[in-house]
Amino acid sequence: MNKLQHVIASPRGARSHSRQLADYFINEIEKVVPGLDCEEVELFSIELPEFSSAGASAKFKASRDMPLTSEEQEQWEGAKSICRQFKSADAWVFSIPMWNFGVPYKLKHYLDLITQPGWLFDVSESGYTGMLSGKKALAVYSCGGFYETPTTASLDSLRPYMRIWANLVGIELHEVCVHSTNLDVDHDKIDNEVKASLDDLQQVFFI
Ligand SMILES: Cc1cc2nc3c(=O)[nH]c(=O)nc-3n(C[C@H](O)[C@H](O)[C@H](O)COP(=O)(O)O)c2cc1C
Repeated sequence: MNKLQHVIASPRGARSHSRQLADYFINEIEKVVPGLDCEEVELFSIELPEFSSAGASAKFKASRDMPLTSEEQEQWEGAKSICRQFKSADAWVFSIPMWNFGVPYKLKHYLDLITQPGWLFDVSESGYTGMLSGKKALAVYSCGGFYETPTTASLDSLRPYMRIWANLVGIELHEVCVHSTNLDVDHDKIDNEVKASLDDLQQVFFI
């Protein structure tokens, strides 16, 4: 692995729980993979291109080799350049807080830009084939509540969404979750448990 990309979906900078734990993982990896290129993509700091009516019709036309208008071309090329940057990595770490039971809107915007047929997956009569097979990603989730009981698990649309996306594009997704960040619980204990999982993942994931 030469290049690791950290896709940061929390706007909270150094205070972000998910980011702190993702950084812990990346720092440990850097110690054992000399010369590793680690790139940060801060979704709340970069300008994500618009993908509206023109983008949607460009998506339709591009799959049929139809000519694009200049506005369609602009939105399509904007999305393509974000996807090119994403695909320049060999592996990814996503740090993702739960927002309203799902992914923060910037991450949804980002994934909607890059997840295009012919870029991250192929479509044929037999179905979808991910184009990133053999590649791995780690998702570090953070949520204010606790979604591991039978009643609350059904509310969690963050992890199921990321699993569906990873499966579509062929990425092997590994996950850890720092939970209960807004509850009155032993946060150090939870952080240490997550760090222990991250230490284990280091062995199976990148080395
Ligand atoms: C806009 C917004 C929506 C949120 N929605 C939820 C939610 O649906 N469920 C939950 O458990 N926590 C929710 N939270 C709390 C965050 O998931 C929690 O504070 C998390 O630890 C933040 O992660 P971060 O520190 O990496 O940004 C929400 C926070 C914000 C700002």
